[in-house]
Amino acid sequence: MSVKKPAPRHFLDLDLIDAATLRRIIDAAHEMKRNGKRVPENLRPRSIADDVLVMIFEKPSTRTRISFDVAMRQLGGQSIVLNHMDLQLGRGESAIDTARVISRYIDIIMVRANSHDTLRELAKYATVPVVNGLTDRTHPCQVMADILTFEEHLGPIKGRTVAWIGDGNNVAASWMHAAVRFGFTLNVACPKELAPHADVTEWVKREKGQVQIMHDPVAAATGADCVVTDTWVSMGDKDADRRKALLKPFSVDAALMAQAAKNAIFMHCLPAYRGHEVTEQVLEGPQSVVFDEAENRLHAQKAILAWCLGAF
Ligand code: CP
Ligand code: NVA
Repeated sequence: MSVKKPAPRHFLDLDLIDAATLRRIIDAAHEMKRNGKRVPENLRPRSIADDVLVMIFEKPSTRTRISFDVAMRQLGGQSIVLNHMDLQLGRGESAIDTARVISRYIDIIMVRANSHDTLRELAKYATVPVVNGLTDRTHPCQVMADILTFEEHLGPIKGRTVAWIGDGNNVAASWMHAAVRFGFTLNVACPKELAPHADVTEWVKREKGQVQIMHDPVAAATGADCVVTDTWVSMGDKDADRRKALLKPFSVDAALMAQAAKNAIFMHCLPAYRGHEVTEQVLEGPQSVVFDEAENRLHAQKAILAWCLGAF
């Protein structure tokens, strides 16, 4: 008689995971960081010595690729990194078949996909956990690292204010999900033409989240504890000139940072384009925590992988 296996613990998006679980993952990430390369026993998945992570990249990556690989090694498991063109996926094999085949070899999948639909399909058909390493719509692992970074600099994020300045893109969408799940205020300042997708805005409304979509960067940044931005041209965007023109008034400079709280921090998921979405002065200035943020991808993802593999 076959025993039905429990549904895999996917990490697809922050709106799909409850607030208490996300809080536990962040608390685990703080603990992982305090312990350096040694993962505390209570946070280590039991099967980890036999576990293999496969990563599939449809787009380039520096931080996600390396931090997930190192995270899996520090947990005690192994990983395989693949470009989608190395797979039959790159020449037309479906995500559905790919998910079912690779689930027979490995224990967890991380994917960076051009389309969110690819992620959804992989997750629907994989029998092992699937982690979202960025799609055209969201970037939840990035925002988990950002929450960790906020908290280590400024304390608990609940009740605080974050200003997102710029494109209403994939990272902005995950920030919006996070505002609801972690209970903070998010002011999004973006051009009307580059506002976040309606499905995210409507979800926030249904959840009664404290998220304001505005079009004035000064109004958004005033009094904020954290100012965050991202590139004006995301991977896959085809209208670079139009975006740069629309986003010109949304550059984060010293004058904008001066509107934020006195001890406010500046974050950017990187890669950054100095002189566009952020000035050199702000990116390299004393309020910038972008390299802590980049490091925290490792600690946050160790916690995410450990949760997906059932450690806590
Ligand atoms: N921030 C981020 O996801 O960086 P990579 O594209 O280098 O992975
Ligand atoms: N919004 C950016 C994030 C890069 C990490 C992109 O999708 O290219």
